[in-house]
Amino acid sequence: MTDQLDTGVESDLNPFWMPFTANQKFKAKPYLLESAEGMYYQSPEGKVLLDGTSGLWCVNAGHGRKEIREAVLSQMEKLDYASCFNIGHPLPFEFAQRLIKHTPGDLDHVFFTNSGSESVDTALKIALAYQRTRGEGTRQRLIGREKGYHGVGFGGMSVGGITSMRTQFGTPLQADHLPHTVNIEKNAFTRGMPTEGIHLADSLEDIVAFHDASNIAAVIVEPIGGGGGVLIPPEGYLQRLREICDKHGILLIFDEVITGFGRVGDSFASKRFGVVPDIMTTAKGLTNGNIPMGAVFVSKKIYDTFMTGSEAGIELFHGYTYSGHPVACAAGMATLSIYEDEGLFNRAAELESYWEDAAHQLKGLPHVKDIRNFGLIAGIELESRPDNAGALGHEVFEKCFEKGVVIRFMGDIMAFSPPLIIAKSQIDQLFETLGSVLRELN
Ligand SMILES: Cc1ncc(COP(=O)(O)O)c(C=O)c1O
Repeated sequence: MTDQLDTGVESDLNPFWMPFTANQKFKAKPYLLESAEGMYYQSPEGKVLLDGTSGLWCVNAGHGRKEIREAVLSQMEKLDYASCFNIGHPLPFEFAQRLIKHTPGDLDHVFFTNSGSESVDTALKIALAYQRTRGEGTRQRLIGREKGYHGVGFGGMSVGGITSMRTQFGTPLQADHLPHTVNIEKNAFTRGMPTEGIHLADSLEDIVAFHDASNIAAVIVEPIGGGGGVLIPPEGYLQRLREICDKHGILLIFDEVITGFGRVGDSFASKRFGVVPDIMTTAKGLTNGNIPMGAVFVSKKIYDTFMTGSEAGIELFHGYTYSGHPVACAAGMATLSIYEDEGLFNRAAELESYWEDAAHQLKGLPHVKDIRNFGLIAGIELESRPDNAGALGHEVFEKCFEKGVVIRFMGDIMAFSPPLIIAKSQIDQLFETLGSVLRELN
């Protein structure tokens, strides 16, 4: 079957099973993007759209960066592929050295993956293997958090806390969950970090009391939750988690897949919040979303624990064909140079108060239930339509698209996370467009 779409694009849409998408709805009325440059996408019929979401929280340096394209092309000419299993090539070594200049504390070893989901599953496996290697093999339980999103691997799904991500698949791995930290009754319309909620970290003590610390390997949280609807940590919350983990010999993993690489006004959220995890997962902004790649950062303590056995033995039975892929490394290094040269790790902090003011101007508009923001992230939570959760979010997304702005909706929460190169006038455009859509809705 060949569909003739409104957009003028002739193609058969059916074979591609779209991820995390209402396929039938989309294929009846597709939203297609064809090209991109800087802050803007262009649709096949020439409509220009401001990118309010950095693609999918990944194109932090903006679209169409020539430096990355050229690095990728020249790397493909030089070395298209080489394995990193018992053989090597210089790029991942060089890239790892450059990356650890930006990581917090002693997170100075890097395991390369191809996505955020792989980074999360890698981190969880390293945590389990670490506990065994140091002689604490009963520590097998993993702790996530309600509303947490950690990708779609079996590990990430199990520690994840978004119901719809779990119900179709059961719960393959045993995991416990901390309570989430959104409290609209007390914290609605807070600018930045809410003051109320540090006590929620103490639930970890309850989980420890229930299972005993000797059975718990690691806790994983996003410093700022994204997929679960933009969750800003309450003041002191992450520090408290760190303290409780230390007290009980539990590893703390920060999933920085969306918060890494400048999103919150420093290279990583852990740096901005001053809390150093034992393991940190990343992807997305690592290569500006141009080539798939992820990276897991581990502390010296963890790495050294693995490096004590026989010199000839493999220390960790884990890895991907494309771990340290030369082309991905080339894209990553070119991306890092842009971040460094253009000061993009500080840019979100510079724009933060302007961003915050622009977001909070939506307070009081129809349907707006809460506004949450930090760095260059904002979540606008809307009142769901009765008996039809998510319908309003989808409608608002469509109307914003028609008005030339791409935003993301998670149920009825509208999320903004634009490229860090955004100008103030474009920040105005993002929120004014959403505001005008909300005013026009009935
Ligand atoms: C915090 C977090 N972890 C993991 C992932 C999964 O990343 P990927 O889609 O690259 O597998 C995401 C994706 O949005 C994420 O936000």
